[in-house]
Amino acid sequence: MSNTRIAFIGAGNMATSLIGGLRAQGVDAALIRASDPGAEQRAKVAAEHGIELFADNAQAIEGADVVLIAVKPQMMKAVCEALRPSLKPNQLVVSIAAGITCASMNTWLGEHPIVRCMPNTPALLRQGVSGLYATARVSSEQRQQAGQLLSAVGIVLWLDDEKQLDAVTAVSGSGPAYFFLLIEAMTAAGEKLGLPRETAAQLTLQTALGAALMATGSDVDAAELRRRVTSPAGTTEAAIKSFQAGGFEALVETALTAAAHRSAEMAEQLGQ
Ligand SMILES: NC(=O)c1ccc[n+]([C@@H]2O[C@H](COP(=O)([O-])OP(=O)(O)OC[C@H]3O[C@@H](n4cnc5c(N)ncnc54)[C@H](OP(=O)(O)O)[C@@H]3O)[C@@H](O)[C@H]2O)c1
Repeated sequence: MSNTRIAFIGAGNMATSLIGGLRAQGVDAALIRASDPGAEQRAKVAAEHGIELFADNAQAIEGADVVLIAVKPQMMKAVCEALRPSLKPNQLVVSIAAGITCASMNTWLGEHPIVRCMPNTPALLRQGVSGLYATARVSSEQRQQAGQLLSAVGIVLWLDDEKQLDAVTAVSGSGPAYFFLLIEAMTAAGEKLGLPRETAAQLTLQTALGAALMATGSDVDAAELRRRVTSPAGTTEAAIKSFQAGGFEALVETALTAAAHRSAEMAEQLGQ
């Protein structure tokens, strides 16, 4: 990664998280460029990260080894088609746009080495997880470059099949919102049980954080951790039995299946 030159197309939330992550890892500002249509955004990002910004996407990608496209999915077609004449055959294109397939990008950009990624919002805190898929044109060096780039904001997991990105979207892409929903529901239930709202919220949040840290730091799986805190005929067992009687696991499966289907459907619509 030390000499890899990276150009970001679109300098919004995700791109600036990645830029911040790279800078924190010691990547030289001179190796990073970005483009964005917003003059204010360009000035803000330049001041914050010390990198050069451009209004013109074609200018930003000059000399770059990796071109990371970080615009909204609806903008991908127009951005790719406009980049096509300026893109060099050896430049690796990395896309983080949800639901845009490599086949669509190849149509819009011409045949290029492409890595498609699905990151998630905790990337903003460098606690993200990304699923990555590389097309056959991607060299092992480029694969490594893409992996190191995304690892600036969290964990990176490679996939063998592009279709698995729909499942990644369902599990981790949309996943933070499921935990937020549980946090909302537990806070509301705590309040109904007589706690002040703020107390219920703090108890819930710290419990979520503690449980996540226990689960990520443990050498046993979540099911075993759950068994260890569920004494027979105790309070936790009473709650777990209620969850299961309400079809909790089946509901989670239905919800994630709906997200994966929607992801595939969006890929179809946005790829036109
Ligand atoms: N945020 C997430 O958690 C997350 C997770 C997974 C994947 N993603 C993907 O990451 C991508 C970026 O998301 P984001 O949340 O970072 O969005 P964002 O904050 O809106 O950033 C996109 C940036 O691109 C700029 N832009 C618009 N048109 C452009 C063009 N023609 N050329 C260059 N830049 C242009 C936008 O400027 P204006 O605002 O002035 O239009 C904006 O600054 C999306 O495709 C999304 O699917 C995001």
